[in-house]
Amino acid sequence: MTGTQELSAKARIGVLVGSHGRGSNMRALVEKCRSGHVPGEVVVVIAPRSSAPAVSVAQSLGIPVETPAPDAEFSRWLVDLIAAYRLRWLCLAGYMRLLPPEVLAALPGHVVNIHPALLPKFGGKGMWGMRVHQAVLDAGEKESGCTVHLVDERYDEGPIILQKRCPVFENDTPETLAERVLALEHEAYAEAMKRLIEAESGSGTFTER
Ligand code: GRF
Repeated sequence: MTGTQELSAKARIGVLVGSHGRGSNMRALVEKCRSGHVPGEVVVVIAPRSSAPAVSVAQSLGIPVETPAPDAEFSRWLVDLIAAYRLRWLCLAGYMRLLPPEVLAALPGHVVNIHPALLPKFGGKGMWGMRVHQAVLDAGEKESGCTVHLVDERYDEGPIILQKRCPVFENDTPETLAERVLALEHEAYAEAMKRLIEAESGSGTFTER
């Protein structure tokens, strides 16, 4: 491949889902790439377990899925996978654990996460799923939303790429709020990846906020 072809090629994205993840953000990102909205291509879905519901979603979309062998050392395996698939970006979508430093070092500044609240509030260890939305309701917040951010070695603390907001209604339950936020997540992840990829290729602007 020549340098010019390399520059015009779509950015290669891997999506790391969670063991219990539905894969809805992964699906949305795949679709936004395929429609041309995001100048990238999801080339692999990585799942900690083959039983993850997101695995069958990825298979139905025709995306290769990788899961570690039971005896694999996860971080070594993931670093090798990043190289084997020549990933430029690793997008976490439902993955709940901290990534080991060697994985972050394999893709510096190119590991991205989505969180279902307006960070820096309502983030940190243990803040996932309905707990986040329950905490937002308990705090009496009038708005919530989602945050796309770069990943560092702490939970939910990396630089924010973008946030999208929605109202919180008085009669909301964690479930109704989660549904409203999830719809925003699907838009936000694609928009953030578009910005990041375009900024890197010089065809867009990106300012951290
Ligand atoms: C999303 O709410 C995301 O913000 C969080 O995990 C959930 C994953 O959902 N990090 P899905 O598997 O993408 O549907």
